[in-house]
Order: sequence, then structure tokens, then C-alpha cells
Amino acid sequence: AKGAAMVTAVAYRLTEQARQIQQTMAEFRLSKAQLLEVKKRMKVEIERGLKKDTHKEATVKMLPTFVRRTPDGTENGDFLALDLGGTNFRVLLVKIRSGKKRSVEMHNKIYAIPIEVMQGTGEELFDHIVYCISDFLDYMGMKSARLPLGFTFSFPCHQTSLDAGILVTWTKGFKATDCEGEDVVELLREAIKRKEEFELDVVAIVNDTVGTMMTCAYEEPNCEVGLIAGTGSNACYMEETKNIEIVEGNEGRMCVNMEWGAFGDNGCLDDIRTKYDQAVDENSLNEGKQRYEKMCSGMYLGEIVRQILIDLTKRGFLFRGQISETLKTRGIFETKFLSQIESDRLALLQVRAILQQLGLDSTCDDSIIVKEVCGTVSRRAAQICGAGMAAVVDKIRENRGLDHLDITVGVDGTLYKLHPHFSRIFQQTVKELAPKCNVIFLLSEDGSGKGAALITAVGCRQRELDAQ
Ligand code: GLC
Repeated sequence: AKGAAMVTAVAYRLTEQARQIQQTMAEFRLSKAQLLEVKKRMKVEIERGLKKDTHKEATVKMLPTFVRRTPDGTENGDFLALDLGGTNFRVLLVKIRSGKKRSVEMHNKIYAIPIEVMQGTGEELFDHIVYCISDFLDYMGMKSARLPLGFTFSFPCHQTSLDAGILVTWTKGFKATDCEGEDVVELLREAIKRKEEFELDVVAIVNDTVGTMMTCAYEEPNCEVGLIAGTGSNACYMEETKNIEIVEGNEGRMCVNMEWGAFGDNGCLDDIRTKYDQAVDENSLNEGKQRYEKMCSGMYLGEIVRQILIDLTKRGFLFRGQISETLKTRGIFETKFLSQIESDRLALLQVRAILQQLGLDSTCDDSIIVKEVCGTVSRRAAQICGAGMAAVVDKIRENRGLDHLDITVGVDGTLYKLHPHFSRIFQQTVKELAPKCNVIFLLSEDGSGKGAALITAVGCRQRELDAQ
């Protein structure tokens, strides 16, 4: 009888433990009504960003890009492109040929940006960028060419023309001094001058979302939205110029860089944010900012998982109650690990092996729980990202007075491309929350660099026309 009582007690403790873990996970499981609410709030913030009276204090900035149309195949020439702000820093040479046999040929090199440079002085950062360009031009044997350059700079910039962009604030892992409030194009031009080795003609500054949209639009004219689900999260789309009240003119359309990562910075998502989201925010380089991005992008998903695991361990449900040094380390769960852990083909033993690689000693039960935590966090990310996208496509549909909209979204980003479930759940959510839109998602290959070159081509041609 004593043995039976003990078995019952153990069983009770286990079910009680399972119940508590499920209770924690439940905070991350959003109902359709909650997701519709996220969509509705995104719509409200979009309007606030677009309207002159509310633009200043709006959190979703809806920044004009001065890109007024998607490519039409007449783009032509050789261009240099820079891609800063994603997982890698790249320098590219892009050769675009127009005409019947239109083609794009690219050469590129990836460079590391050490963390000391990302978070050092602005001058050091831009000197490093120019050092990489110099190396690339040597490598290509093109130092004397004075090429036109498109600069993909994946941060919020207040633009007044195609080639002027004042950095509003750093996001993601960057925090170099003396750049916020400055024109980034000027900072680049000055650094090129300091080096005294080569000349370049900086024609355009481009957000990665815009580059991605343009690259996809080159193949598929119906593509009028760009999405990045990677280190950061953001979208752009073609808005009616008359609705962008801080831009003069009422004709045609212009692409707006939404900077939707900042959605929620006014507290409008507080009811769905958990204490783990708050902990991630407090631990970040930019506390209080980019709250939506911190719930749905690659740089932070692993951090949310880590916060939950720490809490479950403290409560004695995981890792025998021992919080290891590894678990205390920021950034251990990169997107690629989460993607591996959540892969369906993986047996639990392999999950354990991955955790082992990270330095986490787990039991079989631990790995079941870790996998469930990862799945729950990434599902919520895909869903709220989908709710944001549903607001965007419905807005475009309403702009055009349509009952039904067919549209293509160009997509890039490590989370979207590497994660085994993110893209599927994201697409399903968009479909459910925006039933009047038929949305096709097109993956972009090398989107940011190619797109920057296409925009630069248009910019060069416009300049020639203006000069005539
Ligand atoms: C961050 C940046 C934004 C960029 C996104 C994706 O949200 O602020 O400009 O588009 O990351 O890289």
C-alpha cells in the first residue's frame, strides 16, 4: 500500500508539473480573435504613421523610400551594391542587362563585421565598410571605375530623396556612436574620401525589404510587397502617394518602408506580451524599442526560448533544476539551432545531441519539453507576423477599392528560409486573417543586393532625364 501511495504521489507530481508547463505555454497560444485584434491594431498604427498629424509620435513610422515604381526590364548597367544589417555584410558587383535577353549577373564577397565594430564609433564602422569595398574592388580589378552604388542599409532611415537617409535609430545588434540623426549616405561618402583610394557615386540608400520587393518584382510584376523575416522583421509595400501625407504630390504610388518592428512600442501589444518577452526586452541593446520585432524575429526567438527555459529550470521542471553557465549565455539559441531542434525528421536523441553541443546536459524528458517550448514560441512568431501581413494586404485591397485582391509578396530572411515551420504557419495565418486576398509568396534569391542595384539603375536614369 505504501508503494502504491508513493507511485500515486510521483504520478501526481508529474501531472502537476505537466500542467504548470502547459500553463506557461498557454500564454503564447493566441486565439483567432486575438490575432484579428493584432491585425486591427496594426491597421491603426499604419494610419497613424501615414497621417501628417500623427506621424511624429507614431511607432510604425511608414517611411517614404522615393521608389515610385517596380522594375520594368529596361534597367541596364554595372553597379556596386552594399548589404549591411542582415546576418552577413556583403559587397556585390551587379551587372544588369536590358532587352530581349535581360539578365542579372552577380559577384559578391561576404565580410565579417566584428561586434566591436558594430558597437564602436560610427567612424570605425564606416572605415571598416570602406576597407571591405576596397578589398572587393581589388579582388574584381575595378578600382578605377567610379561605379554607381546602391547601399542596402537595413535600419530605419528618414529619407528626403533616393540618396539621402537620416538614421532614426539603430536596431538589432548595431549600436555605433555618432550615427543616429546623421545622413548615412554622407557618412559613407566621407569615409570613401578619407581612404583616398577610389571614387564611387552613391546613388541610392535602400531598405532590405525594398530591395527584396524590387528583386521579386523584376520577375513577377504583381509583386508590390516586401517582407523580411530574418534577424529582424519588417515589411514594405506600394502605397498611394496621396496617402503618404509627409510626401508632396498626389500622383501614383511610392514604396513605404513600414518599420513594423516598432509596432507595440506605445504599449498596444502589452496584453499579449509575456514576462519572458519583457525579460528579453530588458536584456537587449534597445530596451522598450522594437517590441513586435522582439516577438517574431530570428535575433530574439532564441532569447525568448532561453528565458522560458531558465524559468522552468528555476521551478525545477528542467535540467534537474540546475541553471548552467550556458543557459545564462545570451544568444546561444541561434535561428539555425531552433530550426534543427524543431525539424520533424529529428529523433529526440538528436535533439539531445544538439542541446549537448550547446553545452546543455538534458534527459529525454528535458528534450521533449525544450522542443515544445521552441515550437510554441516560433508558432506565435509566425502567427503575429502573419497578422501584420494580413493588415498590409487588406490595406492595399481597400486602397484599390477591390472586393478581391491578387498580390505577390517578395520574401527573404533566415527565419523564413531556414525554419521548418515558420513559413507554413505564417502563410496559413495570412490566408485566415485576410480571406479576401489571394497572396502568393515569392522567395527572393540575393534580394537585397540585386534590388539595390535595380533601384540604383532607375536612379541613374532619372538623373540623366532630369539633366536634359
Ligand atoms: C530591423 C530594421 C529594418 C529592417 C529589418 C529586417 O527591423 O529596423 O529596417 O528592414 O530589421 O532586416
